Amino acid sequence: MTRLAAKHDAVNLAQGFPDFACPKELKDAAAKAIDEDFNQYSVTWGAPILREAIAKKARIYNKIEADGDKNVVVTCGTTEAMVCAQLAILDPGDELIVLDPHYENYVPDAIISGAKPRYLELAQENEFALDEEEIKRAFNSKTRGIVLNTPLNPTGKVFEKKELKLIADLCNDYDAVCFSDEIYEYILYDGAKHVSIGSLPSMRERTVTISGFSKTYSVTGWRVGYATASVRLTNAIKKVHDFVTVGAPHPLQIACAKALSLPDSYYERLRSDYDQRRMTLLSSLEEVGLRCIKPRGAYYIWSDFSGLDSKSTDTEFAMRMLKRNRVAAVPGSSFFQGGRGSKNIRFTFSKKIETIEEACLRLKSLQR
Ligand SMILES: Cc1ncc(COP(=O)(O)O)c(C=O)c1O
Repeated sequence: MTRLAAKHDAVNLAQGFPDFACPKELKDAAAKAIDEDFNQYSVTWGAPILREAIAKKARIYNKIEADGDKNVVVTCGTTEAMVCAQLAILDPGDELIVLDPHYENYVPDAIISGAKPRYLELAQENEFALDEEEIKRAFNSKTRGIVLNTPLNPTGKVFEKKELKLIADLCNDYDAVCFSDEIYEYILYDGAKHVSIGSLPSMRERTVTISGFSKTYSVTGWRVGYATASVRLTNAIKKVHDFVTVGAPHPLQIACAKALSLPDSYYERLRSDYDQRRMTLLSSLEEVGLRCIKPRGAYYIWSDFSGLDSKSTDTEFAMRMLKRNRVAAVPGSSFFQGGRGSKNIRFTFSKKIETIEEACLRLKSLQR
């Protein structure tokens, strides 16, 4: 959709990356790191200064005990952390539970690892709440892991503590690992709180907590992320990571350590700016007749267009909107297996307020 948006001169509300600058402190820190010659390989599992900063952040923000030497692997983005963790832990024949809808990388990661994805549907009618009976049915003797993503791309759901507890109990019963993608952990609204499943006492040894710098600091092109886990799991992930990429870009790792020292006011501002963008887009989409879920986290709005158009598929609707209104969004079915999401499209609001306002203006004629 990003390529098509460029071709049709459309406002790109499809792919989740900012069109605004990252913090100046980060640019300066990256330039300084290059100037100071952090230009060769770092320790393969991450520059010590960054691993220390990540461990401190894990202890304070995520409430997970971590040591920079023993429990952290720095990777090329959250993307690499997830695939390396799955490669390290899953064996051919294992099953990996994937919640549906999901971010599209988890299933290819499982397949590359030789594991079989087993889908667990979150009901759209029920605002994607986790159903106790369904999840109990999904776990079985072959289950080696489950992927969790909170806040959730594409719907903005923030998992409740009782849902996390349910997943934790089943992971314990079946000796399974939770791969927890928490990349949107700082982007929250309406008083929502981020809880890391790895902070639940029974989950310390069986969670790989994954996050990164792309979204929180608006540096999706830097490709720096990380995994935090027990010593045993970390050692396995370190080895895979070494063979897959050797290491993340060294000067940018140094700059990311600086990012983790930004004051609380940075995160407050991040949230209030995103909240303004969220409410601007949400009210426009609802005004033109899309039924939307108000996200509690992340930077996406999940919408249902069936009230406007009962005949088109998600792809047909998105393509028409792209060509007629010149606004790009992602067809909903790309987040599901087996045909669900065919009446949905996902919009991102990770854009300047002017960009969102321009999109809102263009969408005014969507009904007609
Ligand atoms: C849920 C989720 N995980 C991971 C990523 C990719 O993160 P990174 O840039 O750190 O590889 C994205 C990007 O959109 C995402 O939405």
